[in-house]
Amino acid sequence: MDPAVAFSLPALVVLTLSFVILLSYLIRRISSTDAKTPPGSSGWPIVGENVHLGILGPPKFIKKRMEKFSPYVFKTSLLGEKMAFFCGPQGNKFVFTNENKLLTSWWPKSVTKVLLFTEVIDENQKVVAPLLANSVHDILKPEALKQYVSTMDSMARHHMETDWAPYDEVKVHPLSQKYTFSLSCKLFMDEDDNDKVAKVLKNFNIVTNGMISLPLDFPGTAYNRAIKGGKVLRGGLLKIIATRRKELMENKETTRQDVLSKMLLVTNEDGKLMSEKEISNNIIGLLVASYETSSVAITFILKHLAENPHIYDQVRKEQMEIAESKQPGELLSWEDVEKMKYSWNVARESLRLAPPGQGAFREALTDFTYAGFTIPKGWKIFWNVNTTHNDPKYFPNPEKFNPSRFEGSGPAPYSFVPFGGGPRMCPGKEYARLEILIFMHNFVKNFKLEKLNPKEKIVYRSTPVPAEGLPVRLNPHAKN
Ligand code: HEM
Repeated sequence: MDPAVAFSLPALVVLTLSFVILLSYLIRRISSTDAKTPPGSSGWPIVGENVHLGILGPPKFIKKRMEKFSPYVFKTSLLGEKMAFFCGPQGNKFVFTNENKLLTSWWPKSVTKVLLFTEVIDENQKVVAPLLANSVHDILKPEALKQYVSTMDSMARHHMETDWAPYDEVKVHPLSQKYTFSLSCKLFMDEDDNDKVAKVLKNFNIVTNGMISLPLDFPGTAYNRAIKGGKVLRGGLLKIIATRRKELMENKETTRQDVLSKMLLVTNEDGKLMSEKEISNNIIGLLVASYETSSVAITFILKHLAENPHIYDQVRKEQMEIAESKQPGELLSWEDVEKMKYSWNVARESLRLAPPGQGAFREALTDFTYAGFTIPKGWKIFWNVNTTHNDPKYFPNPEKFNPSRFEGSGPAPYSFVPFGGGPRMCPGKEYARLEILIFMHNFVKNFKLEKLNPKEKIVYRSTPVPAEGLPVRLNPHAKN
């Protein structure tokens, strides 16, 4: 080999390496001298701390950084964005009380690109958001919710008979997904064709598993699969929406009360109807917000009931008193659900220990100060459930499953936040309460359960889930 080349190759490698090390040192120096922003780490170039978050899962990721940097706020870099994590009840309070003043809602681009027809998003936000808010609030207000109780109960009964009762062993998570997704399809789109629902659900899972990930779009990545699944999903929804619009034009659809029917009729001030793509965006938004959160909640409630037989017995006692007060075949009423007080405390304790939503994003509308640090305009903020739900200051012996914490005045303000708080608090909270309690009623009436893998791990996708889907053995109760 030419000695000049033999010398220059290693020299080139050494020079390049030195340059990279110097550059990353300078970047670190620059960010550490930026003393006013919260303490924290920006992680690796480009990927930031995504890998750390993926390996540790949100609870450990957050705990470590609170211990190392600050119990109030720390900075990081995730999903290609500079981000501040707000911690503790003070952090939750600050976010919930400064909505639309210092902060506004924000979603990662990966989420909107995967789920929505992005070409109508701007139009959507200006014109459709208020219309959607009305449609959503219409179906989630108490008068509407009261009408859902019997539909939810009859669907839960059918679900128990067809998907649980025939089997000795089942996986809880896929079944609870089927229950909450079928309910959402029925109540939002009046769709109860099981095959159609199953097809949409399959694509939905591909989409939700990849939507909060690094936006690396090449074959094999979760994001790439989610983009493809999203296209199929939107195509399927557009067909349903177009068929329903045709039915409406031909005056075939007169009595439907679902959200889609309302969206097909609603007009803006200029008398303009929503386009099919805008309606698709809004229906997808509702489905995403409603089905996986509730199915994960149900999955963990069953996990905790299996692990705590004495609590299971008390839930069954409460539910059997209600069941025995009914005529054979009579469906549950709103008043029956209102009696399920102990069961709801059990559900809330489960939501404390295994919250389906880990928190939510915001964007800083302006520079502002929090806990002595500057949050620059445009930075993203994440409020989160983990910093209070497991803190012994707010929940003594936090690892213990203890529904009595919710008796009396309950937890301290801003410490129990599975549904968020303030103006953006989950508008589906009451809907979720109904579908969860009605499921619990039908489940404990029929079965006791045992976990098949006591050491099953929890993994984090868009929500936490038992790694194997929570396989259980079902022990049916004798029918009276
Ligand atoms: C156990 C079940 C559920 C949990 C734990 C949950 C939790 C949450 C959380 C944490 C947020 C974010 C709040 C924020 O941005 O600060 C949220 C937003 C939302 N949820 Fe839920 N949710 C559940 C069920 C539902 C259901 C059943 C529906 C619909 C029927 C629903 C509809 C929504 C909507 C539309 C938003 C967005 C609100 C906005 O941005 O203004 N959720 N939910």
